[in-house]
Amino acid sequence: MTQCTCVVGLQWGDEAKGKIVDLLAEEHDIVVRFNGGANAGHTVVADGRVHKLSLIPTGILRSEVTSVIANGVVIYPPRFLEEVAQLEASGIIVGQRLLVSDRAHVIFPYHLEEEKAGAGCAAEVIGTTGRGVGPCYQDKVGRISAIRVAELLDADHLRRRLEEIVPRKNRLLQALGAGTSMFCAEELACEYAAYGERMRSYVADTVRYLHQALQQGRRILFEAAQGTLLDVDHGTYPFVTSSHSSAAGLWSGSGVPATRVGRIVGVVKAYSTRVGAGPFPTELDDAIGEKIRQTGREYGTVTGRPRRCGWFDAVAVRYAAAVSGATELAVMLLDVLSELEQVAIGVAYELDGERIDYMPATSVQLARCRPVLEWLPGWKRDLGSVRRPEDLPGAARRYLDRLSQLVGLPVRLASVGPDRRQTIRW
Ligand code: IMP
Repeated sequence: MTQCTCVVGLQWGDEAKGKIVDLLAEEHDIVVRFNGGANAGHTVVADGRVHKLSLIPTGILRSEVTSVIANGVVIYPPRFLEEVAQLEASGIIVGQRLLVSDRAHVIFPYHLEEEKAGAGCAAEVIGTTGRGVGPCYQDKVGRISAIRVAELLDADHLRRRLEEIVPRKNRLLQALGAGTSMFCAEELACEYAAYGERMRSYVADTVRYLHQALQQGRRILFEAAQGTLLDVDHGTYPFVTSSHSSAAGLWSGSGVPATRVGRIVGVVKAYSTRVGAGPFPTELDDAIGEKIRQTGREYGTVTGRPRRCGWFDAVAVRYAAAVSGATELAVMLLDVLSELEQVAIGVAYELDGERIDYMPATSVQLARCRPVLEWLPGWKRDLGSVRRPEDLPGAARRYLDRLSQLVGLPVRLASVGPDRRQTIRW
């Protein structure tokens, strides 16, 4: 058994990674989140209770596991504290089982305003989640206006930093025509120093913590938020998120070298979905797409937006599996396709009259791609109670075999319902 495992989405996010992380957490001591912020949404059903988490790793639902929010994450403190309070209200004791990196960056209200300010803003063009994630990462890379979690713990230092930053932000927001009243450095400094005090017991040097844990032989599970096709470098740029949401983000986002990770579970839906703008070759803008949306309850956990639905795109997933170094597949929501007479898989694209079997590098080209579909018979049987591979209907098995063959990875798990028990393993 490998000491470190990574769970990563191979589509455009929302692959139901939360359930896989929750299942694998049983075999690990530590669960680490290394990218993104409260733009992610995880729904996990455990013991009949539904838990919705955005920022805190789902590992928190297992009492023997320590959860780490690593340096690559951007944190909105009110959201973080709200999630801690929600967990504790449902009887989950967070205590010392949650660590937040002192190097993680902090989202401020001006980031939220920046995201929605002005015509042609990211919220409008890319269809971002409005959680201030992009503007916070912009500041991180720009360095001059960024604030890290460690800085919240020193009130005087924080006040001095905000006195420099806030006037710049106010000028920027004014220039963008933001309809907000201007921010006050003093008020923000008091508010965020108070958050810092409430977060103090969770803040740690998580890089050191993780390396010590590795030396002690503890098993670590990494969870990537969003999906590989939303990775800022490798996704369908510019219709992507601002972080490294492929497995590539693990190294920089946690300080643990990828050479330590022996198993990378690529999570896919049995079909495809996408929220927000951007090319989506196998999209179904018809009654079947609507049927998948209704059956799969395909509405965003964070924003409630209806998700765009389409057939499984083997070209895109094969590319994502390569970029993320996936070693196996977990196929989620197989049950959602159960009522369809026939199911299709995108096996290639047609680009400007030519058949191609790879993902073109630009979104402009991808938007011109038409899918080449391969049709397979549906299984027309409820799968919710299936627990063993041999009990799957032949047509469902053939569908999984074909996905596996096209992506070039073994399917090690299929999910047939939201509950932990509705899982088939090979
Ligand atoms: P941002 O991450 O809020 O900047 O949004 C950038 C793009 O990524 C938008 O298309 C969002 O809909 C998408 N996105 C961000 N987080 C998630 C997620 O957790 N699941 C699916 N899509 C996401």
